Amino acid sequence: MYYLGETSLKQATLHQLRVFEAVARHNSFTRAAEELFLTQPTVSMQVKQLTKIVGMPLFDQVGKRIYLTQAGEELVKTCREVFDKLDKFEMILSDLKGLKQGRLRLAVITTAKYFVPRLLGPFCQQYPGIDISLQVTNHEYILGRLNENLDDLYIMSQLPENLDVTYQAVLENPLIILAPANHPLANEKNIPLERIAAEPFIMREPGSGTRKAVQDLFDEHQISLKVRLDLGSNEAIKQAIAGGLGISALSRHTLALEGTTGQLTILDVEKFPIERHWYAVYPNGKQLSVVAQTFLEYMLTQGKQISENTVTPTART
Ligand code: PGA
Repeated sequence: MYYLGETSLKQATLHQLRVFEAVARHNSFTRAAEELFLTQPTVSMQVKQLTKIVGMPLFDQVGKRIYLTQAGEELVKTCREVFDKLDKFEMILSDLKGLKQGRLRLAVITTAKYFVPRLLGPFCQQYPGIDISLQVTNHEYILGRLNENLDDLYIMSQLPENLDVTYQAVLENPLIILAPANHPLANEKNIPLERIAAEPFIMREPGSGTRKAVQDLFDEHQISLKVRLDLGSNEAIKQAIAGGLGISALSRHTLALEGTTGQLTILDVEKFPIERHWYAVYPNGKQLSVVAQTFLEYMLTQGKQISENTVTPTART
């Protein structure tokens, strides 16, 4: 029970808590207002009323930026627990009614965007009552979301080291070296890592799991790559390779939907492909909603088939 100041948190409305959580998540009144389709003064008013009920400031304002106070941080955690419980209750109700209904919040690393949306199509056809929210971002951001328990399921290739999670391998996600089709090494076999290190290399941005896997391999062999460019997108990297800026290591799945113009080729490099997997991950102890559980099972049974149909053994850009 919360009795803070002279008022009780029981007087707070669910709406106020949702507004507050959105402001905290975006760190912005304006963006929260946009997300919730409210005006900014309405959002400010709701937070002001909630602050009064709590009896302590929820945000500090420094210049134009706002920061959660300690009370604010605690309240965010509480809000998320409350929303989570309500979501679960909704799912239980749906299940009791024999319907698969509700919301599925997924957060996936950039390479999984070549595969997860292909599963979502048939899944949504099978369960038309399910609304999906899909966040596609890099490894570091996924870890942040996982830490804050913002989604139902996470798909990543590198398991978090410092978070207690439950995981299941979904599919292989090998990393390969891609080069322009007319590259002098295109027809060589078992190219040494040292030779790759002599080529201008294009790297994913810091925080990327792909980058870390490549860097770890070269570090392990004490070889320095000649990084010419950092790029935050797999697609932009493929364009840069085709444009002759260098070679790179990317997931083989990034070739899944390509045409047949033959601008890229996979080099045969020693120690490659780097064998990795996608894992479906969620915080240990979290009780998956019926919808999330259904999607996880669906992914495990259907995923392999979809991937086999979309990933080709050779580059076809
Ligand atoms: P990234 O993750 O988008 O963080 O590089 C992709 C992967 O690890 O396959």
